[in-house]
Amino acid sequence: MLKQEIEDGQTSLADPFFRADVLDGLARRPRAIPARWFYDRRGSELFEAITALPEYYPTRTETALLMQVGPQLGALAAPNAAVVEFGSGSSTKTPILLRAINPAAYVPIDISGDFLRESARGLAEAFPGLPVHPVEADFLRPMPLPEMVADLPKLGFFPGSTIGNMTAYHAVDLLRAMRQWLGEGARLLIGMDRVKSTDILIPAYDDAQGVTAAFNLNLLERINRELAGTIPIDAFRHRAIWNANATRVEMHLEAQRDVAFSVDGRDFSMAAGETIHTENSHKYGPNGGRMLLRAGGWTPISEWTDPQGWFGLMLCEAQPIRMAP
Ligand code: AVJ
Repeated sequence: MLKQEIEDGQTSLADPFFRADVLDGLARRPRAIPARWFYDRRGSELFEAITALPEYYPTRTETALLMQVGPQLGALAAPNAAVVEFGSGSSTKTPILLRAINPAAYVPIDISGDFLRESARGLAEAFPGLPVHPVEADFLRPMPLPEMVADLPKLGFFPGSTIGNMTAYHAVDLLRAMRQWLGEGARLLIGMDRVKSTDILIPAYDDAQGVTAAFNLNLLERINRELAGTIPIDAFRHRAIWNANATRVEMHLEAQRDVAFSVDGRDFSMAAGETIHTENSHKYGPNGGRMLLRAGGWTPISEWTDPQGWFGLMLCEAQPIRMAP
């Protein structure tokens, strides 16, 4: 009785969008829960730990690339540019870009106000004299940028190959929304992870220490905690697979035996071997990456990769949309 009351209390405090995504996702076939729900406090900590893993090359490779191309970026960016970052710039990458191009203003946009204010404060401290104007908003719902940056040339920044979490359809929506935020003539610096051998890709998403497994399984812990779930977490295993047709790494949670559980009072059952699809991480060939950017209204103008060609940094421009001849 008491337990039910507590669980009801927790459930009513839970994010209604989280609840809807989990309940719909568990009812659907194939079962799938959007990757954005990984990032509760514990999930964000585990992701930070992932970025330092020996097998997880993207963060390290992109950071080195940014440091290396910094001087060229400085020359390519307008002298009085406003850097607009999609995501709140808690990473080590933002200071590298800011140091390289010495912008007139920095505008981090993020849906999470707490995270945003925290990282904005940190950056304002590290860059005294740099005006920082955080915007708490959903990337997909463009609104006017702060007045102080309205007339400055814009440089969007979207590192980490975060675009890779999206299917092409949604990636194009996002790229077009970014164009809407930044306006015609703006530039965008975007990180895109490259197609490479599965000998490199799979360990990056299934590391020896099991940190990525813990990151994936934490989603079930979060469901149990926030949505009064009874999922037997030890019955699930982390899986990372390469989907060659879709050129992406997929993460799944695979039931090791038949399981039955409830979430928010609803009953679910899964047979041994069935999975919940929890993440896509698309990888791009050079042409595929450029094509995606063009479809989203961004014309590639420069790109850089590391010597192994593992990660791409693309600079593109929102050129006027022209009709076919
Ligand atoms: C933050 C989406 C870029 O796909 O590589 C890392 C997330 N998932 N390990 C990625 C992630 C598993 C990461 N992104």
